[in-house]
Amino acid sequence: MTDSWDTIADWYAGLLRTGSVMHEFNCNVLLKLLPDKLGGCRVLDLGCGEGIVARAVAARGASVAGIDPSPRMIEHARAADAGGPGTVVYAVDDGCVLSTVATNSLNWVTAGLSLNNVPDLDAALAAVRRVLMARGSLAFTVPHPCFEAPHAAWTQATGRPVRRIVGDYLAEGFWRSDNPEGARRAGNQHRTLSTYLTALVRHGFVLETVTEPSPSAQVVAAQPHRAGLPPFLAVRARRA
Ligand SMILES: C[S@@+](CC[C@H](N)C(=O)[O-])C[C@H]1O[C@@H](n2cnc3c(N)ncnc32)[C@H](O)[C@@H]1O
Repeated sequence: MTDSWDTIADWYAGLLRTGSVMHEFNCNVLLKLLPDKLGGCRVLDLGCGEGIVARAVAARGASVAGIDPSPRMIEHARAADAGGPGTVVYAVDDGCVLSTVATNSLNWVTAGLSLNNVPDLDAALAAVRRVLMARGSLAFTVPHPCFEAPHAAWTQATGRPVRRIVGDYLAEGFWRSDNPEGARRAGNQHRTLSTYLTALVRHGFVLETVTEPSPSAQVVAAQPHRAGLPPFLAVRARRA
């Protein structure tokens, strides 16, 4: 069977529920792009998965909706959220369309590791722009395009430190990892750094923040070879 986000949803939710330092780090990187207090704000979490980001944003006081095209991910997100404080409203939806979200209705859209999964970035950014109010903002993370390009790998020559090998940075498009323990076995849309940034500008966004954070101490403790490279690219852009 070919993996999809829906077929690996149980695995992904289990991974995050038992504590994945990389996903916790990613969530923290994304949260740093947002104000500490979000009371009175309406936020959409695009590609919410099992809800790690949506729950954290709701905990800051925002009214949050989470969408994901995977029905099984949405089941996990609803189960994790049931009855808790800062309840999130979840729906099955495509980030390229956002058919469940009203036009000009949101202060923020967050997207943690999901824009690198949408098949059509232009359609997703047009949809995000449509649902944001004037001066509303998009905050997102993606696996760092320069270091997490298709089939990038770790290598180590005798007596030398572990190094990252990237060979296919310019090969944009869909690719699938052959790592049976990796999330990208479900597939992933590789885009270059310039593709992300120029697409934002083309869709009428003003870049406010672009960061490439160093891996946290917890990430480096779990995966020492990651020291020295940013695993994620984080961007905040305001609707002009
Ligand atoms: C790596 S997971 C990230 C989930 C969550 N944001 C997190 O930080 O754990 C990628 C998510 O993107 C979702 N996705 C795939 N295609 C999508 C699309 N067209 N629109 C929105 N989300 C999509 C997947 O279903 C999956 O839940």
